[in-house]
Amino acid sequence: MSTGTAVVARDVSITVAGRAIITGVSAELAPGRSLALVGASGAGKTTLLNALGLLQPVSGGSITVGDAPAHRWKDGQRRRFWRDHMAFIAQDYGLVEDETVAYNVALHALSVWRGAAPHRAGVRAALAAVGLEGREKDRVSTLSGGERQRVGIARAVFKRGDVILADEPTASLDEDNREAIAGLLFERVREGAALAIATHDLDLAARCDSVLELS
Ligand SMILES: Nc1ncnc2c1ncn2[C@@H]1O[C@H](COP(=O)(O)OP(=O)(O)OP(=O)(O)O)[C@@H](O)[C@H]1O
Ligand SMILES: [Mg+2]
Repeated sequence: MSTGTAVVARDVSITVAGRAIITGVSAELAPGRSLALVGASGAGKTTLLNALGLLQPVSGGSITVGDAPAHRWKDGQRRRFWRDHMAFIAQDYGLVEDETVAYNVALHALSVWRGAAPHRAGVRAALAAVGLEGREKDRVSTLSGGERQRVGIARAVFKRGDVILADEPTASLDEDNREAIAGLLFERVREGAALAIATHDLDLAARCDSVLELS
């Protein structure tokens, strides 16, 4: 188990196309802790989550990873952070539609030469964890919305990143699956991962160690 990675946003402002979307927001992701980002649609939850994941530049304030000023990192440093630490569960699932479930789960570990074969056991375990056992060979384009969402979560489970950024990870799921997915995410927190969840699900938010409301 790794010692964990902290990501801290201090007094962050984000302006996109001349519009201030986030102004002066601070948020702390600590190893073994969970943070919920809540607020109305359009409040900036996805934007802040992207900034915490170094996918969205900030126009003011800072993002630190450990002690490093990550908002100033160049592409190579950000790529290393993504590769070594981050598991990102995107609101739109971020899947390659024409590829198989197995390909999508192992995506970041795939090599040109050997494809998904070396990862078969890990992919199988990740799919079982989200209730999609045996679905490796299905094309993503044939899956339901909730099944797609669970493939996106299986990818994060497979990767075992210690910074987990989950954008409405339960939005398309029924109650049993919501509970199972929440269980998986909080299990990673108990193992030392830092978790941020953007969500409209106030029960899920209440289970996090802290809640940040955006307006
Ligand atoms: N690339 C962009 N260009 C222009 N506007 C953007 C861009 N990204 C985000 N915005 C705007 O920023 C605001 C916040 O968007 P964001 O997606 O962060 O909201 P959200 O809180 O995640 O909403 P939801 O609950 O609907 O997912 C919205 O008004 C959106 O239109
Ligand atoms: Mg959003």
